[in-house]
Amino acid sequence: MKVDVLLGLQWGDEGKGKVVDVLTPRYDVVARFQGGPNAGHTLEFEGKKYVLRSIPSGIFQHGQTNIIGNGVVLDPILFREEAEALEKSGIDLKKVLKISKKVHLILPTHRLLDAANEKAKGGSKIGTTGKGIGPTYTDKISRNGLRLGDLFDNFDAKYSAARDRHLKQLAALGENPDITENEARWKDAVEYMRGFDIIDSEYEINNYLRQGKSVLCEGAQGTLLDVDFGSYPFVTSSNTICAGACSGLGVAPNRIGEVFGIFKAYCTRVGSGPFPTELFDETGKKIRDIGHEYGAVTGRERRCGWIDLVALKYSIMLNGVTQLIMMKSDVLDDFDEIKACVAYEIDGERTDRFPFSIESAELKPVYVTMPGWKTDMTKIKSETEFPEAFRNYIAFLEKELETPITIVSVGPDREQTIVRSK
Ligand code: GDP
Ligand code: IMO
Ligand code: MG
Repeated sequence: MKVDVLLGLQWGDEGKGKVVDVLTPRYDVVARFQGGPNAGHTLEFEGKKYVLRSIPSGIFQHGQTNIIGNGVVLDPILFREEAEALEKSGIDLKKVLKISKKVHLILPTHRLLDAANEKAKGGSKIGTTGKGIGPTYTDKISRNGLRLGDLFDNFDAKYSAARDRHLKQLAALGENPDITENEARWKDAVEYMRGFDIIDSEYEINNYLRQGKSVLCEGAQGTLLDVDFGSYPFVTSSNTICAGACSGLGVAPNRIGEVFGIFKAYCTRVGSGPFPTELFDETGKKIRDIGHEYGAVTGRERRCGWIDLVALKYSIMLNGVTQLIMMKSDVLDDFDEIKACVAYEIDGERTDRFPFSIESAELKPVYVTMPGWKTDMTKIKSETEFPEAFRNYIAFLEKELETPITIVSVGPDREQTIVRSK
């Protein structure tokens, strides 16, 4: 059996959670492979809205096993909050969720270091989610991390050593915090985590595959936030691309099957960093208002702009995308004209390559303009009902991106999803 991978092609918040939920009935297992509670995935169905941060978005369909893979970082306090809320809504979480022993833990001091590092950067801060993601992955890579599996071997001593090291780092940054209260909550939450199935997830997943079971790997963030290929240093600290599914779950590259790449019909970004097609005018504001573009985790305003095909082509290449999923088309329902960036002009030279840096003030997006469809798409149930201008927009994107768009989302609800015939 192969594993399919679903991931974001822009700067995150493409609507991954919604689509994972919609696709879950096709699979036996859903597994998260990287990131942590910096993610915020909003799902809507049956008139209710849920936000997931660390728990896979397959959790609301019935019967699937959900796995948090080794590539993920978990904050026990936030995990507990999220898990208890799900348990309260009637999900027997301990039965359907398994967590890798190799998951790295976010300590209270990691969050403080995240904040202190940002403060030290001043005007060039990254605008992180403040969840301790960078410092936790830093500890992982520098071989100082604390893993969930450490719970079973001398955990207190390992925790104390990590905390003391962090307190020294914080002192060097001019911070001398009192962590007593947070530490107690954190330790309680760690005890709560013992109640879950803590497993060797690489064996588990490969055994499922041997048994002929199907697996969907769920990415967090987006390709342009990838630590290697994104708009560095304004990125997150994990590999958000398809390769991250291999290292974040222990799945071999030749096991990868379909790669679903998700993008919005426009583009957003939250936090600092370059964004070539960003709109600072009324159009940008209109997209933000209609699209409710505010962060699920931080409530921050998301920056909005036109779709960037240079960046999308780059993302499709890096991930080996086999199928595209277009989200939030309905947000553009009321626009007379829609623009798409088809190239960058840098110092007067035109290119369709995503360059080493997209920060240059001399980088200008080259747009094509198309007529809008001026139709309420939110109640459409089948592609036969698509207005002609929308059909043309899809055909244009498929030609430019050389990849089929197989799913179109026309609203936040599970039901507002149109699967196209191939
Ligand atoms: P994720 O992080 O990739 O899962 O995406 P988020 O949940 O952070 O952001 C996507 C937002 O758009 C959420 O509030 C969704 O409920 C909403 N959404 C998803 N798909 C659609 C769509 O097709 N149309 C509209 N209007 N909203 C959508
Ligand atoms: P989902 O999974 C959008 C951004 C932050 C910041 C940068 C680094 O919901 O799509 P971090 O806290 O990871 O160190 O922040 O990455 N960022 C996201 N932006 N969606 C996300 O996740 C994000 N996770 C991190 O805003 O710019
Ligand atoms: Mg999100």
